[in-house]
Amino acid sequence: MEKKQAVVTSDTLTKEQIRELAAKSLAGIKNSYAPYSHFHVSAVLLSENGNIYTGNNIENAAYTPSVCAERCAFFKAVSEGERDFAVIALCGGLKGVVKDYCAPCGVCRQALFEFGGPELNVIMAKTPDDFIERSMDELLPFGFGPSNVA
Ligand code: THU
Repeated sequence: MEKKQAVVTSDTLTKEQIRELAAKSLAGIKNSYAPYSHFHVSAVLLSENGNIYTGNNIENAAYTPSVCAERCAFFKAVSEGERDFAVIALCGGLKGVVKDYCAPCGVCRQALFEFGGPELNVIMAKTPDDFIERSMDELLPFGFGPSNVA
């Protein structure tokens, strides 16, 4: 099937749009459920259709069923039919206080690579105006993805 024209891509995103995604991620940190690690994480995923999906880390008393914020956002989006993504913004900090840039864990990098590929951009925010941006290619070089098993 022909791929639909993207409404947004990481190249067409303006600084103001990135700022808004970072701000939304920071605002969403209150929804994290992290009673065990106390490390609260919030993610905001923007699809190429222009839709936004939020996610938070959700921990569990049995520990292993816990999920990270990025995968929470991705699973919400993919389960609603989204397949193409432009950017994901995230932030995190102990007790919800963001002091440093929060980088995606290794498992999340692999999960993001599945649909985002090497071009997906990851925004790691400290404040709406203080963030760093890296491509998945930088975060997961030589990533193993769908093309490897086709
Ligand atoms: N966490 C995320 O949600 N995303 C990441 O990429 C890093 C780690 C969560 C998992 C766990 O609930 C807490 O942060 C501490 O590791």
